[in-house]
Amino acid sequence: MQIVRTRDELRDVLNGARAGGRRVAFVPTMGYLHEGHLRLVDRARQLGDIVVLSIFVNPLQFGPSEDLASYPRDFDRDARLAHARGVDFLFAPAVEEMYPNGRPLVTVTAPTLSDRLCGKYRPGHFEGVLTVVNKLFNIVRPDFAVFGRKDFQQVVLVRRMVEDLDMQVIIDALPTVREPDGLAMSSRNTYLSPDERQRALSIYRAITAGARVFRDGETSAAAILDAVRAVFAAEPDIVVQYIELVNPRTLDPVTTAGPEDVLAVAAFVGRTRLIDNMTLGDAGA
Ligand code: PAF
Repeated sequence: MQIVRTRDELRDVLNGARAGGRRVAFVPTMGYLHEGHLRLVDRARQLGDIVVLSIFVNPLQFGPSEDLASYPRDFDRDARLAHARGVDFLFAPAVEEMYPNGRPLVTVTAPTLSDRLCGKYRPGHFEGVLTVVNKLFNIVRPDFAVFGRKDFQQVVLVRRMVEDLDMQVIIDALPTVREPDGLAMSSRNTYLSPDERQRALSIYRAITAGARVFRDGETSAAAILDAVRAVFAAEPDIVVQYIELVNPRTLDPVTTAGPEDVLAVAAFVGRTRLIDNMTLGDAGA
């Protein structure tokens, strides 16, 4: 595995690696890798001949009161894990390398889709995500890019950017990888104390409860959301930011639920904000 720090070097090595029509599969991350990221790498290995993983904690997608400074970082561990999983090129640029002009003047925005769900509470977040993903796609020029469905709204927005801007990349999105007890894997889980880690499980229990009500024949969104809220009602220490049942393409709230619709939650466990989601048709899967 080759570690690459600059855009020019990455472009050079990939131009060579692409010779003979070899295809590039790309996994963008912010590092502090866990099994969820590594499954994306496995998928990238299946899709492409060359696997590029990026590690870049993107300042543009953090709000002023968010956790940019404390976001967990361990480059040596990440490099070992990436190497062991078969990454060919690990792209880990500095902030000045990605944003040599400081805050970019030209950015990618997706009003309406960005203002829903997480975007409602994290103004500017998805503009930061789409802008850096666009830049990374321009640098890596991947044939495939692999994302995790835990960041459901991110996947919806990236797919829409690729469609609307005619980008030549195929987006693949993999199911959320969970701990054996159901907690969605996230780099931010490292912030949780043992007690908070236990309480965080109610997020999974809540969305599972909602999805089960649907599986048992209920299609009223209000009734499904009530089942989710009932789980949180028994957990006063968790502060729910939103619980929504939405159409997976438009992110519009639905009133009558179908199997493709997505139950999405964001909640604070202590100071840690966690998100999770479930496609109703996947209930019991
Ligand atoms: O999902 C993430 O880790 C980030 O939002 C991404 C896609 C790497 C962009 O910074």
